[in-house]
Amino acid sequence: MKKYPNLSKTCTIRGVSYRNRIFSTPTGLTYPDEYSGAPDFRTVLFYEKKARGGAASVNYGETPVNNVDAVRRPNVDVIRPDFSRMILPAKDWIKYTDAITRHGANPCVQLCHAGLFAEPFFNGQTTGRVIGPVDMDKESGTHVSAMNEEDMARIAGDFAEAAICAVQAGFNQVMVQCCHGWLLAQFLSPAWNTRTDEYGGSIENRAKFPLQVLKAVREKVGPRVVIQIRISGDEHQENGWSLEDCIAFCKMTDGIVDIIEISAGDYHNSEHYCWVNPLMDHFVNIPIARELKKAGVQAKLTAVGGHNDPEKMDQLIGEGVVDFFSIGRGILADPDLPKKFLTGKEEDVKPCIRCSDCMAGLYTGFYQCNINPTAGQEAYLLNTPAPKSSKKVLVIGGGVGGMEAAITAFDRGHDVTLVDKGEELGGTLLFADHGHKEDLRSLKNYYVRQIEKRDIKVMLNTVADTALLDKLHPTDIIVAAGSTHRVLNVPGVENARYATAAYYEPETIGEKVVLIGGGMINCEIAISLADAGKDVTIIELLDGTARDANMFIKPTLDEMFAERADSIHVITEAATKSISENSVQYTDKEGNEFEVKADTVLYAVGSVPNSSTVEEIQEWPEWESFRAIGDCTGASIVKKAIHQGYYAAMDIL
Ligand SMILES: Cc1cc2nc3c(=O)[nH]c(=O)nc-3n(C[C@H](O)[C@H](O)[C@H](O)COP(=O)(O)OP(=O)(O)OC[C@H]3O[C@@H](n4cnc5c(N)ncnc54)[C@H](O)[C@@H]3O)c2cc1C
Ligand SMILES: Cc1cc2nc3c(=O)[nH]c(=O)nc-3n(C[C@H](O)[C@H](O)[C@H](O)COP(=O)(O)O)c2cc1C
Ligand code: SF4
Repeated sequence: MKKYPNLSKTCTIRGVSYRNRIFSTPTGLTYPDEYSGAPDFRTVLFYEKKARGGAASVNYGETPVNNVDAVRRPNVDVIRPDFSRMILPAKDWIKYTDAITRHGANPCVQLCHAGLFAEPFFNGQTTGRVIGPVDMDKESGTHVSAMNEEDMARIAGDFAEAAICAVQAGFNQVMVQCCHGWLLAQFLSPAWNTRTDEYGGSIENRAKFPLQVLKAVREKVGPRVVIQIRISGDEHQENGWSLEDCIAFCKMTDGIVDIIEISAGDYHNSEHYCWVNPLMDHFVNIPIARELKKAGVQAKLTAVGGHNDPEKMDQLIGEGVVDFFSIGRGILADPDLPKKFLTGKEEDVKPCIRCSDCMAGLYTGFYQCNINPTAGQEAYLLNTPAPKSSKKVLVIGGGVGGMEAAITAFDRGHDVTLVDKGEELGGTLLFADHGHKEDLRSLKNYYVRQIEKRDIKVMLNTVADTALLDKLHPTDIIVAAGSTHRVLNVPGVENARYATAAYYEPETIGEKVVLIGGGMINCEIAISLADAGKDVTIIELLDGTARDANMFIKPTLDEMFAERADSIHVITEAATKSISENSVQYTDKEGNEFEVKADTVLYAVGSVPNSSTVEEIQEWPEWESFRAIGDCTGASIVKKAIHQGYYAAMDIL
């Protein structure tokens, strides 16, 4: 008997068989080949890993249906022929579909039109015209022309042509993007579509053009191809579309669409709902699925939104709430997640921490996963020699960086000892055992479990120094000694504690709390204290809070602060001058002096790397290789520790 029989169940739709109920959804990395515009070899290697990991379907993601007016960013692939250059990209896409199907998964591609968010300079064959539901001028200065019926017929044709090119390239499932603020969502949403003709107003009118597209696609691809759509269950924007609209539209697709994938948000106004972050819940879109099922929508349902618990997933499928589960970042963080879930080995899944730095990386130009160092770097693995012999490796520091290094070195055949001066493994992340940082706690626990599962010698309560090295005689050393919080340099600091006291000693936190330092650490603590009924004041030297948060976490934090405006007070451009037993004194930028009352004062004003350990160990004359990694080379986030730990271990040859 399988542990998760519902999740493991096969399913056939229009003759296309699915080996289980887990879909891998798009998570970026779409490098087009310079010649054909189809996915290049790096991209194929990346998606192949997802297919090998056991997902039933692997979705490629954002693929524009034309390059006249559909494209909104550089580096997207082309799926339709370019007759002017005699290039048939579909031919090259076969390399992608083949890499998916040879591992037993179904390849799916997401067909998109950016509508009013396109820009002429991204569209190679542009007419210079950007189109959308209504006439408008964008902030960029680009004029958007309201689509007429001729435009609608042309775009419906483009979707159909792109879909048939996909089928010719080996896709047996195509997804039409109807959410997140893309063209079809722009028509569906009353926030964007304010037309007064037969394509605006009621949901029947707003749905006309999207249905025209879906019908054109079905007609072109025929009955043996699965059509999937993505919709936003809730747009989270003013005058955005409602649940009733969503139900009505989904019912209108009966008979045309086979699978509906529920997401949320809009790229342009409420982007953080598109990839929920650690301050938000898991399984966020399941209530929408319940409503769609209740309303009798015929298509099979799936949803995205932080699905990390196979037991719950199995139960929800068993109850008939959804038919599949879609997972994006979870599979990016651990491509083998489906296999591990389905074989009851969920404890071996490296859990995504929902930081969305992968998504932020698409915008900043450096796409990576914080906890999976090889995501997008598959070619690196092909270019890395195996170790020539088993070395005697010593890893100093049992935080995430040291544990990643120890696991990687052990799995490469080395004899590994891991030393930590603390009583247990986990390093800085031990604070997450307490309080609300559940995703980080899961990550830390994953690492500790993986160490326990291996024959790695662990020495706790042991300070690494040269005397220890003389005893152990390692050949290769990785130091991951972490950092120590910076002590606030003001008179009366003895009346304050480092911020993690809020996690370790919650019972000692008074009713009125002052948090000195407005970075992420204190902002998250402010929210949890406010939710526990405390009155919180943040004093920050610079002109804003959470400047270290990425572009997706920051809006959520701002929203959460606004919702708690009665209990979280933020004072910026303020220098803390002194701390007394029941208050904090500070000056504003003009030098005026103020005082805030406080029962408890906490601070988080940066960290200092433990470089003395690095220096001492490096002096030991006998090592063959030495590397310092993670916070001990400059305090940062888990990404630095994990990536550097991994690559340091891979370099031991
Ligand atoms: C409150 C808080 C919240 C955070 N939130 C996030 C977040 O949301 N996302 C994120 O990415 N990052 C976050 N971070 C940062 C993150 O925790 C660190 O970047 C990361 O844990 C550093 O890992 P590391 O392995 O380099 O060091 P550490 O985890 O600090 O491990 C160092 C280890 O070395 C041991 N050690 C030191 N010297 C010796 C010695 N001489 N001999 C033996 N052992 C020694 C220590 O005991 C310790 O266990 C947060 C940090 C804090 C404090
Ligand atoms: C880096 C990255 C790229 C993404 N690209 C797309 C995309 O091309 N099309 C799309 O509809 N969703 C895209 N998404 C959204 C995911 O498919 C998914 O809906 C989202 O991450 C929420 O699901 P999750 O919580 O399982 O990650 C992307 C997400 C990430 C993190
Ligand atoms: S851990 Fe962060 S970077 Fe990696 S997939 Fe999850 S959200 Fe993206």
